[in-house]
Amino acid sequence: MTNQNFIDLSRIYEESEKVKVSLQGKKLDKMRSQALENPEQFWGEQAKNLIWFKQWDKVLDSNDHPFYKWFVGGALNASVNCLDRHIDSDLKNKAAIIWEAENKESRSFTYSQLYRSVNKFASALKSLGVKKGDRVTIYLPMVPELPIAMLACARIGAIHTVVFSGFSSQALSDRVNDSNSRVVITADGGFRRGKLVELKKVVDEAIPLSSSIEHVVVLKRALNNITMGPKDVWWHEIIEDARPYCEPEIIESTHPLYILYTSGTTGKPKGVVHSTGGYLTHLYATAKWVFDFTNKDIFFCTADIGWVTGHSYIVYAPLMHGATQIMYEGAPDYPKPDRYWDIVEKHGATILYTTPTALRMYIKFGNSIPNSFDLSSLRLLGTVGEPINPEVWMWYFRTIGKENCPIVDTWWQTETGGIMISACTGIEIVPMKPGSGTFSLPGIDAVVVDENGKPVTPDKKGYLVIRKPWPGMLMTLWRDDEKYQNTYWRKFDNIYFTGDYALYDTDGYLWLLGRSDDVLKIAGHRLGTMELESAFVSHRAIAEAAVTSRPDEKKGESIIAFLVLRTEFAAVSEQQLRNQLVNHIRETVGPIATPGEIYFVNKLPKTRSGKIMRRLLKSISSGSSTIGDVSTLEDGTSIEEVRQAYDDLHKAIG
Ligand code: PRX
Repeated sequence: MTNQNFIDLSRIYEESEKVKVSLQGKKLDKMRSQALENPEQFWGEQAKNLIWFKQWDKVLDSNDHPFYKWFVGGALNASVNCLDRHIDSDLKNKAAIIWEAENKESRSFTYSQLYRSVNKFASALKSLGVKKGDRVTIYLPMVPELPIAMLACARIGAIHTVVFSGFSSQALSDRVNDSNSRVVITADGGFRRGKLVELKKVVDEAIPLSSSIEHVVVLKRALNNITMGPKDVWWHEIIEDARPYCEPEIIESTHPLYILYTSGTTGKPKGVVHSTGGYLTHLYATAKWVFDFTNKDIFFCTADIGWVTGHSYIVYAPLMHGATQIMYEGAPDYPKPDRYWDIVEKHGATILYTTPTALRMYIKFGNSIPNSFDLSSLRLLGTVGEPINPEVWMWYFRTIGKENCPIVDTWWQTETGGIMISACTGIEIVPMKPGSGTFSLPGIDAVVVDENGKPVTPDKKGYLVIRKPWPGMLMTLWRDDEKYQNTYWRKFDNIYFTGDYALYDTDGYLWLLGRSDDVLKIAGHRLGTMELESAFVSHRAIAEAAVTSRPDEKKGESIIAFLVLRTEFAAVSEQQLRNQLVNHIRETVGPIATPGEIYFVNKLPKTRSGKIMRRLLKSISSGSSTIGDVSTLEDGTSIEEVRQAYDDLHKAIG
């Protein structure tokens, strides 16, 4: 991986001051070493870019490791940092959000319109009795009311917990119950592939299972025949008489801004808790460094706000910077596989931030589609969520960026809050290597270690860990401090365990090599194998389940399930049952968890203590012929049975 495939960007930046500095290779290095030498001073400087009601007394309190506290004693409000700060400036009449629908309708909100909408909705939430510290679940499609609801919560100090609108009622009620939310905000429906997704119906199914909910706020999107229940109120009615100004609550820096549920290695998703001051500081700084944001940028981040990328880089970071954010509600290929290019051209996007999965989908349709659009407004391209194959990177660089746009391959996680590893075009332009995340950001102490926690030599694969705390880090897992400690801080003492494999090459570039644990990345979506196994076992036909994945050309990885049937179901038609199970998983978890392949087996490969041997499943699913050490198998036959079933079915499907 050494010295190969360098893409020199000096031509793109010939005229720029930045390149003159960068090619001497000094600026980024200097900033990174200064940040690591004195992190508190460094992050304290970054925090000064926010608007504070009260300055902090201490940048970092490390006394209660690993419960780090950032900007202790400081007070601020996230909605003030995103909106009020622009209201008395020239930005107030500039578009904050441009929303594009699947049917090409668009709507935009200037900063002052967004400010007014957030204030009104915050007043309305207050009049429903919502107060600081209460949890509010938001289950909305990709419409401007979603960021409005988040910012309104932030304004009154309520902790939002956004649930991806593709999740099922079971997944929704699990999250509502875990967070003990008092209010759910939803819509009558959302649109995807020309179809209406009836969200209110999903909420209606979840409410009987969620006793903490007192009110359901429903956004009307011109659909008829919605039945309103006793807890339901219309969004448009509660804002009608709401006060147009809502005094922002003074929020301590360490007060949670939100909870966001994500999959881990255990059955139930975990509630990642993010702070206010530390999180916003991290976002402000990283958006500047990575994307070189200015308030002239029109940023198109294609993520759904139901995931962390949308929270951080659709809502909080772009608004703090006064940028214009494009939000798209719909599929990238509906009605035609050209939507991102069409939107870039139509709204003049300057930065596109998307996933390798979306790019792989577009590549399939050939170059003539993107070539038929004017993409010349783009100045920077970004990717996130999963490793990008060098060929896909090159296609992005040539076909979309026309070799005029650097690519930032950004590595981070729900837990890290913001970007941790990426090229930093806002600091210095360095030569790029397709497929490498480049370097860790200033202040981020990322290292690759072996099983004993010792840094590995260049070109050796190991575990990616972060040695020093950083401001965007999660504070804990909601109501589960112990799990927080066990998941992230126990494998290696005192350092944060990311769960990813990585390596440094001899030029010091970082390569991210996928998960080292039981977390899957299906089309960039994070899913836990155990979470999927519980969903399979909740079907009446299934006695036991083992889930793994294998590399997939389109989705990066696809789900493979090995299932043991309950004896009374053994006679049912397998194809029929397979279809039923696919529907069951789509209904219990959501369509993102649709299994790629399902195999029925007699037994699962297990250790003597009853744990599924995941390594074996993985080696079968990736077609490896070397099984390795099988001495801990329950007995010598089950792995053969799995292999047999797998081979047979493979033959069957050609
Ligand atoms: O495995 C890494 C992968 O996504 C995981 C985090 O997933 P999630 O919490 O859903 O957040 C995704 C969006 C920030 C990581 O542990 N991942 C994320 N970005 C990259 C990546 N893998 C390789 N390259 C990336 N750029």
